[in-house]
Formats: sequence, structure tokens, C-alpha cells
Amino acid sequence: MRPKVIAGNWKMHHGPSATRRFFSRFFSEFSPRFEGAEPTILIFPPAISLPAAAESRGGRPEIGLGIQNIHWESKGALTGEHSASMALAAGARFALVGHSERRHVFGETDAQVELKVAAAIRESLTPVVCVGETLDERRGGQVEEVIVRQLDAALLGVPEGAKKPILVAYEPVWAIGTGETATTDDVAEAHGILRRRLTEVRSDGFAQGVAILYGGSVKPGNAADLLAVADVDGVLVGAASLDPESFARIAESG
Ligand code: PGA
Repeated sequence: MRPKVIAGNWKMHHGPSATRRFFSRFFSEFSPRFEGAEPTILIFPPAISLPAAAESRGGRPEIGLGIQNIHWESKGALTGEHSASMALAAGARFALVGHSERRHVFGETDAQVELKVAAAIRESLTPVVCVGETLDERRGGQVEEVIVRQLDAALLGVPEGAKKPILVAYEPVWAIGTGETATTDDVAEAHGILRRRLTEVRSDGFAQGVAILYGGSVKPGNAADLLAVADVDGVLVGAASLDPESFARIAESG
């Protein structure tokens, strides 16, 4: 059985001082267990807070840090961007790729997602690939078409024989930051589609190694139910990850 992964995406919240305060309160609320070779609690602070997060986390391997977005180039005249190798040097081991806000607010395309996945893996960051349909796409019966297309594009960036598996997060766009959560049936269906597609495109062994997280209005009151759904290997939490007590309650559900 894959250990459950509890990930917090802070988005544009918590600068370095707030990051230090978060960790000291989080550790007074929750003692993470280390269940294997990979961390099971992941935090994605703003890039500028990664060094503060790395320092606050200290030597606890059970907490993994990640960057919320990378550029696919390793360096260059790209004002405002960060490369995978810079994220690694600042303490990140994971990278969110294709988050719905990147896709819908910043116009990120499937082709860019492929390049970012490839760049992350090249620099030894584990990509957490986000996929999910909009409300119109759901109403139009296009859930499978959309999430399979987004997953396929991301998989093009994963070289055959890549050492560490990627993670995938199913985040229906209409459930992000809205208080709306997908029903457990909707979640089971989407996660089943993604797992089958991973098997079809790669292999059963590959598919079994990929943790598929659910994201979209996860909070302490619904985390346990979502984590109990078939093929849900974890959660990606936005708003409710900003508060150390609420994130600790969600982590306890894992
Ligand atoms: P939310 O965000 O939990 O605030 O809905 C989830 C996400 O965007 O990853």
C-alpha cells in the first residue's frame, strides 16, 4: 500500500517570517512519522520562503519541500522565473507543475507542462503534475478527455526508466478555493481514469508507483473521507494548509 501523502500548496501566502512561525506551530501540533524512503508531508511555500522553510524543517526527512512552479530552462534572461536547479539548491525536492492557476491565470499550456516535467526530472526534482477539468468541461461530459489529455502531455516529459515516479494531483478547477468538493464518486471515477491511463501509456508497475492526490477545498472535516476513496493516495490542500492547526488535523487523517 502506498503511504498517504498530505501536501500543502501555500500559493502566494507566507513570506519567510510567517513560514518560520508556521513550522514552529506545526511541529508543536503534529509529530510526523517517517514511513519509508519518501516524505509523506509536502509543503510548497512561495519560492522566496523555501530557504526559511528548509531551515525551519531542520533534519526531518519526513517533511518534503517543493516549489510551486519552475521554468524549463536552467538559466537565462527570464525575469521573474526560477529554474529547477535553483529550487533544488534552495531546499526543494518536489515541483508542482501545471497547477490550475498556472494554466488558467498564466496561460500555461500542455506543451509547457511537458517541458517543465522534463526539466524537473532532469534536475532530480519530483514533479507533482496537476490535472483537472473546468465546470464547463464537466457539464459538457469532457472530464475524461481533459484529464487524459493533460496527463498524456505530462507523461511525454517523463523519460523511460526515470528513477523516481512522478505524483499526479487531480484538482477539478471548479472545486479549487470555492468550498465545493467533488463527491467521493466523482473522485473515485477520475482517479480510476488516471490510474488506468498511467497503465495504458506506461505499465502497471509504473502506474502502481504513482501517488494520485485529490485537491480542491480539502479541509479537516472532509480529508478522512476523501483519503478513504479508492485510488486516492493523498491530498493537495490550498487554503486549509495555511493554518498549522488545520494542516496538522488533515495530516493526522493520512
Ligand atoms: P484549495 O486549493 O484547497 O484552497 O481549494 C487547492 C489547490 O489549489 O491546490
